[in-house]
Amino acid sequence: MSSEHLLKSLLMLFLALFSANASNWKRNVEVMDAVRRGAQLAIDECQYQFRNRRWNCSTLETVPVFGKVVTQTREAAFVYAISAASVAFAVTRACSSGELEKCGCDRNVHGVSPDFQWSGCSDNIAYGVAFSQSFVDIRERGKGQSSNRALMNLHNNEAGRKAILNHMRVECKCHGVSGSCEVKTCWKAMPPFRKVGNVIKEKFDGATEVEQRKIGTTKVLVPRNSQFKPHTDEDLVYLDPSPDFCDHDPRTPGMLGTVGRYCNKTSKAIDGCELMCCGRGFHTEEVEVVDRCSCKFHWCCYVKCKQCRKMVEMHTCR
Ligand SMILES: *[C@@H]1O[C@H](CO)[C@@H](O)[C@H](O)[C@H]1NC(C)=O
Ligand SMILES: *[C@@H]1O[C@H](CO)[C@@H](O)[C@H](O)[C@H]1NC(C)=O
Repeated sequence: MSSEHLLKSLLMLFLALFSANASNWKRNVEVMDAVRRGAQLAIDECQYQFRNRRWNCSTLETVPVFGKVVTQTREAAFVYAISAASVAFAVTRACSSGELEKCGCDRNVHGVSPDFQWSGCSDNIAYGVAFSQSFVDIRERGKGQSSNRALMNLHNNEAGRKAILNHMRVECKCHGVSGSCEVKTCWKAMPPFRKVGNVIKEKFDGATEVEQRKIGTTKVLVPRNSQFKPHTDEDLVYLDPSPDFCDHDPRTPGMLGTVGRYCNKTSKAIDGCELMCCGRGFHTEEVEVVDRCSCKFHWCCYVKCKQCRKMVEMHTCR
């Protein structure tokens, strides 16, 4: 799929998912650029994290919205969380790099610590998070916050942003003659987006099935199984169990099925042929792959490799 087409459908996805109110923002071209980069990050990360699963995030490529079946599942929880995180991330990046008029570095972290000096230019995650809240959450807020689905989405959006907020780090740079560290300047930085993806994927694996409960006049989501400990702000929650994603269903957007998917013959996990192919069996094909091999280090300083061809077995689901 061409990247231009992908970008277009990304933007459609974001508009569809998030913004009854996007027109408020459309005028702000700079920030919409950052949002577009956020969308790209979210898609790439989703496809990376789900590359070995039956549902491989392909929905996002082809249709801008989920089919009905998957709107309240843990897959949806992941998509909302990663999307809310990606908008916060990309806008924060844009602030730090000076692209946006309305924000810059976070200069609140400053001064001198025993071992280093704050640079005065930390990532302005507070701005990115606030932007994500106003941009991403607005649709749920508009619908009235009390529907189960709105509660679920808002919770997962927040959990996604927490995956950045709770994993901020300190990065430093040394200054001085020939790499000595006479002066060290440091700043607060966001984790790499891959780390954010890993955190949210872990939360996906341990997501909590919830139902609505009324406490006084407030509606809240509580674990369906009362034996489970309540979820935290950082955990993902979902209302409906997922379908098995085994079969193509033309009536459900994104329900592509697993026919033709690669699988791993020796794995017992979800990427293994047994589970991936839902017991339908698989085809095996010998294909030639070209690899780098017999690499030698040459003085100084490069590595030279040969190209080796070898035959490997590839398995695809029937
Ligand atoms: C995801 O799976 C579908 C089939 O279910 C396949 O057509 C598509 O290429 C896969 N996408 C990625 C990114 O692996
Ligand atoms: C297949 O699965 C096995 C066992 O989990 C693993 O060791 C191997 O690296 C996998 N092969 C590929 C090509 O991913």
